[in-house]
Amino acid sequence: MSRKVAVIVGSLRKGSYSRFTAQALAALAPVSLALEIVEIGDLPFYDQDLDEGTPPAAWSRFRETIAGYDGVLFVTPEYNRSLPAVIKNAIDVGSRPYGASVWNGKPAGVVSISIGALGGFGANHHLRQSLVFLNMPTLQQPEAYFGNAGSFFDEEGRLVNEGTKAVMQAYVDAYAAWVERVLG
Ligand code: FNR
Repeated sequence: MSRKVAVIVGSLRKGSYSRFTAQALAALAPVSLALEIVEIGDLPFYDQDLDEGTPPAAWSRFRETIAGYDGVLFVTPEYNRSLPAVIKNAIDVGSRPYGASVWNGKPAGVVSISIGALGGFGANHHLRQSLVFLNMPTLQQPEAYFGNAGSFFDEEGRLVNEGTKAVMQAYVDAYAAWVERVLG
């Protein structure tokens, strides 16, 4: 039986290298792991008042969807040395109502990308800070910072860099093993 993992992509733009990276990781994943992108672009900004009554339908749908997955892989670009608002918003929506977080206990992985040389280190680690609080056991090694991401893909978003492919393969294999270790 393969483990189902939700992939949260921190960029909404068409042609996103983060999305291409998520798709490449999904294609490289071993049979024990099914990676599926869960969309976050339709989630209204988190507003605690809206959780007092009937929450927005998109929030409820997202919460139910994430609850049905065994693990969560975050693939994010870096915006201004931190994580983009859309991915933080998705994390906040999934974390509430208080005591009913859908993230709790799910084995996580964090992959960051950048067109620059640093590979989104700032975004990667700011995201990890939230995962500590959310009680998500998170793969520590190997770390995954993909710099110069614009050079890995062709115009259709296919991964064409063999060196990067090998690194992504090693990462997704390690994440699959991590999911098994956490879930037993
Ligand atoms: C960026 N970019 C960027 N890159 C980086 O390495 N460090 C940073 O702090 C930032 N900051 C930043 C802010 C904003 C608002 C934008 C739009 C972009 C560049 C970023 O790496 C590049 O746009 C990537 O292509 C974004 O990822 P996607 O959309 O291709 O997945």
